Amino acid sequence: MAGRIVAVLAFCLLAIVFTRGQQGIEFDSGTRGILEEFYIALDGPGWNQRTHWLNHTVGYCNWYGVTCSPNTTTVVEINLDNNGLNGQMKFSIGNLKELTRLSLAENDILGRLPPTISRMTGLKYLNFSNNLLDSVIPPEYGVLDQLEVLDLGQNFIQGEIPQTIGEYGGLIYLDLAENRLTGSIPGNIGNLSVVQFINISYNSLTGWIPTELGERLHRLEVLDLSHNKLNGMIPEHLQEVPHLKRLDLSHNEIKVIQEFDKFDELPYCNFEHNEFSCPLPEKAEEHCKAVCHRHSTPVPGAAVGAVFAVVVALAAAIAFVASFEKQRIREESGVTQEDEDDF
Ligand SMILES: *[C@@H]1O[C@H](CO)[C@@H](O)[C@H](O)[C@H]1NC(C)=O
Ligand SMILES: *[C@@H]1O[C@H](CO)[C@@H](O)[C@H](O)[C@H]1NC(C)=O
Ligand SMILES: *[C@@H]1O[C@H](CO)[C@@H](O)[C@H](O)[C@H]1NC(C)=O
Ligand SMILES: *[C@@H]1O[C@H](CO)[C@@H](O)[C@H](O)[C@H]1NC(C)=O
Repeated sequence: MAGRIVAVLAFCLLAIVFTRGQQGIEFDSGTRGILEEFYIALDGPGWNQRTHWLNHTVGYCNWYGVTCSPNTTTVVEINLDNNGLNGQMKFSIGNLKELTRLSLAENDILGRLPPTISRMTGLKYLNFSNNLLDSVIPPEYGVLDQLEVLDLGQNFIQGEIPQTIGEYGGLIYLDLAENRLTGSIPGNIGNLSVVQFINISYNSLTGWIPTELGERLHRLEVLDLSHNKLNGMIPEHLQEVPHLKRLDLSHNEIKVIQEFDKFDELPYCNFEHNEFSCPLPEKAEEHCKAVCHRHSTPVPGAAVGAVFAVVVALAAAIAFVASFEKQRIREESGVTQEDEDDF
C-alpha cells in the first residue's frame, strides 16, 4: 500500500519536474482555461492576429496581445484593439484578477459589460470604445479605485450613469461619448478629484449640470457634454476651474447662463444651440457662440401658418417645375433627331 503511494507521489513529482523543465515556468491551467474561453466566445479563429493562441507548448504569456508580469505566469495586460473580436464576453474574464490593462477597443463585442471586471481591483486602464455593447455601466465597477482611464465611448450603452462613478477616486480620463445614456449626471461626479478629461457628449442626458463639476474638479481640462438634453443653467463655478481649456455645452436645452466673468478666458468655449432666454451677457455671444431666443415657446398659430406657407410654396414650385419640364420636352422633341445624328 505504502509502496504504491510512494510510487504515485514519485510519478507526480516527475511529471511536475518534466513540465517545468519543458516550459521554464509552470503555466496556470485556470488562467489558460479563462483565456481559451475568451478566445472561443469572441470568435478567435476569425481574429486578424492570433499568433500562438491555444498553443499549449507556447505558454499563454506569449499569445498575441497577452502580457504577463516579468518572470511570472500572471496575466497583467490584454491588448486586442481592432482585432476582429466579435461575440459576447464571458464573465469568467473577471477571474484574471491581476489585470491592470484591458484594451478591447474597435471590435464587435456585443451585449453586456461583464460586472465581474470589478474583481480586477488593480485595473488602471479599461478601453471598450467603439464596440456594440448595449448593457448598463455595471455599478459594481465603483470598486475599481485604481482605475485611471475608462473609455466606453461609441457603443450602445444605456441606462443612467451609476452613482458609484464617484468612487473611481483615481480616474483621470472618462469617455462615455456616443452612447444611449439617459437620466441626469450624478452630483457625486464631483468626487473624481483628479479627473482631467470628461466626454459624455452624444447621449440623451437630462436634468441640470451638477454644480459639483465646477466646485470640486480642480484638475479638469476638458469637459464635453454637448449633444444631450441638459437643461437648467450653466454653473458659474465652472469658470473657476483653473486648468479648463475646452468647454463644450453646445446642442442642449440650457436656459440660463448664471454669470459670465471668466468664460471668455477659455481657449475654447461653445454654448451654441441651446435655449437661452434674452438678454445674454454680450461676451457669451461673442466668445461662446451663445444665442438667445426672445420667444422661448413658439406661438401655435404662427407655427401652423408657417407650415401652411411652406406647403403652398412647395406646391407652387412643383407645379412650376412640371410645366417647365413639359415645355422643355415639347421643345426638345423637335430637335432630337439632329442631336442623334451628330454622334
Ligand atoms: C527575470 O529573469 C531574468 C533572467 O532569468 C533576470 O535577469 C531578471 O532580472 C528577472 N526579472 C525580474 C523582474 O525578476
Ligand atoms: C481606446 O482605444 C482606441 C483604439 O485603439 C484609441 O483610439 C483610444 O485613444 C483609446 N482611449 C484611450 C483613452 O486611451
Ligand atoms: C467627444 O466625443 C465625441 C464623440 O466621439 C467627439 O466627436 C468629440 O470630439 C469628443 N470631444 C473631445 C473634446 O474630445
Ligand atoms: C461622493 O460625493 C457625495 C456628495 O456629492 C458624498 O456624499 C459621498 O460620500 C462621496 N463618496 C465618496 C466615495 O467619496
